[in-house]
Amino acid sequence: MGRKFFVGGNWKCNGTNEEVKKIISTLNAGDVPSQDVVEVVVSPPFVFLPLTKGSLRSDFHVAAQNCWIKKGGAYTGEISAEMLVNLDIPWVILGHSERRLILGESNEFVGDKVAYALSQGLKVIACVGETLEQRESGSTLEVVAAQTKAIADRVSDWTNVVVAYEPVWAIGTGKVATPAQAQEVHAELRKWLHANISPEVAASTRIIYGGSVNGANCKELAAQADVDGFLVGGASLKPEFIDIIKSAE
Ligand code: G3P
Repeated sequence: MGRKFFVGGNWKCNGTNEEVKKIISTLNAGDVPSQDVVEVVVSPPFVFLPLTKGSLRSDFHVAAQNCWIKKGGAYTGEISAEMLVNLDIPWVILGHSERRLILGESNEFVGDKVAYALSQGLKVIACVGETLEQRESGSTLEVVAAQTKAIADRVSDWTNVVVAYEPVWAIGTGKVATPAQAQEVHAELRKWLHANISPEVAASTRIIYGGSVNGANCKELAAQADVDGFLVGGASLKPEFIDIIKSAE
């Protein structure tokens, strides 16, 4: 069975009520392939989840950008997986490099978050990726394998997991990975899943690319055998996000 193309839009810490409504109206008017061809998930900041969920077209879905590591309670400022389920938000992004690097989320912390979110019925976009220093030192594969292992040590069912490879040096920099660079790491990640989880999980798990994807570079990246879609930041706030979704065709 083929892997359905997946395009995520990570709006990060951006937007006002008016801007969100404008983005949603642009998305709702977009001419895109059917849900049989591509799965589209947009991820607004927490405060705009109900607005987005309530006005987004029914063939697109919504994700939170994070959630807490366990059941809610005395964790000021946190949003629990249970709250997302209660709001009927099906997806959550976990382990984004901005949270790993700025907030110090460790591989194990991310692995526990992924396991808990899945246990509550959420679907997870799990992010991995190396820094420029790690790439230049030749440790890219070692780094992304360790990040993936920390998830695999805690997760047995990969049905609701999408892996997002996001090289930190390509995020927000305009320095997109070349198709060959993306394909190399995606293929190595798929080999890792094959060897350490199962051939079935390796064959069925979507591995998507994130890092300066835009309307101009998406087609060539999408043509790579092991690139199953994208996690888009800046360009997901713009009309060109529709073009990126169309690269699924
Ligand atoms: O999660 C996606 C994001 O990290 C990529 O950002 O702006 O480089 O597309 P951007």
